[in-house]
Formats: sequence, C-alpha cells, structure tokens
Amino acid sequence: MSVAQPALAVVQQRDDLGLDDPKITATLKALHARAKGDVWVFLRAAPGIAGAVLRGRPAIEGALPYLKDAYIPVDPDQGRLLYLTARAIGARTIVEFGTSFGISTIYLAAAARANNGRVVGTELEPTKVKAARANVAEAGLAQFVDIREGDAMKTLAPLDATVDFVLLDGWKDLYLPMIKMLAPKMRAGAVVLADNIFTFKKTLRPYVAHMQDRANGFESVTVPLGHGMEYSVRLAEQKR
Ligand SMILES: C[S@@+](CC[C@H](N)C(=O)[O-])C[C@H]1O[C@@H](n2cnc3c(N)ncnc32)[C@H](O)[C@@H]1O
Repeated sequence: MSVAQPALAVVQQRDDLGLDDPKITATLKALHARAKGDVWVFLRAAPGIAGAVLRGRPAIEGALPYLKDAYIPVDPDQGRLLYLTARAIGARTIVEFGTSFGISTIYLAAAARANNGRVVGTELEPTKVKAARANVAEAGLAQFVDIREGDAMKTLAPLDATVDFVLLDGWKDLYLPMIKMLAPKMRAGAVVLADNIFTFKKTLRPYVAHMQDRANGFESVTVPLGHGMEYSVRLAEQKR
C-alpha cells in the first residue's frame, strides 16, 4: 500500500498538467509576446482616436478600424484567474464574448479539458477567427473549443446549454445586453468575469450597477486585476 499511493499520485499529475502542459505554455508564451506588438497598432490608431475624442465621441470609435490587427488580450494573471475559477466551479459550458486571437480561449479551454467541458467563443473579425482556431489547435485544445464567427448577440442566441462560466471581453456597450441574454441560461453558482471595468468606467457603469444589484440575480465585486475585472456569481435560475 505504501508504494501504490505515491505511484497513483504521479500518474494523476501527469494526466492533469493544466496550464503547465508544455504545448499550452509554449503557445501562450508566443502569443503574449506577439500581443506586445499592439503598441504599434495603437500608435497607428492615435490620429483616429484623437479625432474621435475631439468630436466628443468615445476613443474606441476612432480606434475601431485598426483593431482587427490588435490582440488586446487578458494578461497572464487574468488568464490564470479565468482558468482557476473555471476549474474551481467545474465549469463545463464556458462562454466567451470576444475571442480575438484566442489567448483567453486557451486559458479557458485548459479548464474545459480538465472539466470534460467546452468553450464556446465568439469573434466578429473573420481573420481573427481563423488565427484563433489555429492558435487553439497549436495548444492542443481544438477539440474543446467552438469559435463562432459573427456578432455574439446572434451567434450566442441559439446556445442551448446550461452555462457555467462567462467571460465578457468584446466591445463594452454589449456587456449588459449580453448578460441579460445569457442570464436565463446560467446555473446558480455560475461565474461571470468581465474585463476592462477601469478602462471603460463610464460605459460599463450601468453593467456594474446591474451586476451589483442582487435583485438582478447576481452578487458581484470589482477586482483590481489587469484593467479591472467584475467578478459576479449567479444567485438563482431566472424563470424563462
Ligand atoms: C479585447 S478583444 C478580446 C481579447 C481576448 N478575450 C483575449 O483575451 O485574448 C475584443 C474582441 O471582441 C471582438 N468583438 C467585439 N464585439 C463583438 C461582437 N459583437 N461579437 C463578437 N466579437 C466581438 C473584437 O473583434 C475583438 O477581437
């Protein structure tokens, strides 16, 4: 007996490398390095951003034409939080609004693999969809990911599954309509992580207020990680 127990522990560790799986580690390292090139995209976008601000429009409006080349990913700590949270709650249906080149998708898919689940990602930009699928495959996680091309309000509408985990990281004006669409599909105890709460404070104020009002079926706190993440837990199933 005293010999069998350590041997079993070693086998379990080999089967469950999580984010330490060499393919995942190497792919994420390369992608986070490439994402540093975003700085050049934003420099090219600077005149557009300035123009939008001068017209009294949101800065993002001026940047939009350039963002098809930008990764704008979660940072590695945020990625680990996504992975750890999805694992902790045993999330099997994980929904991602805003896939970009697939960095957050890979963190989530590592949890989906451990939980025998899947990630349903969504991305507007066709070139990003193609690249994200390739990146997820490079990490060895393709079979756990379904990336839907198009507007998430349309691609996620037909989702017929109980949702355990949601990442909100697409354009910010859609967080509130998106959560209102997904909430009836979420189980009690499901988690929503929403990025960029500090970056887009004004735009996201109605979203944060909604999530922090338990009458709407969530309990929620803003976590000072990355550019601010709203961490919300679903309290009860809503009647459909
Ligand atoms: C901040 S990036 C996502 C980064 C990604 N979550 C990561 O960490 O690697 C936002 C992405 O959301 C996409 N997006 C914005 N609005 C969308 C919509 N309505 N439907 C689908 N994708 C959308 C954008 O094209 C962009 O690639």
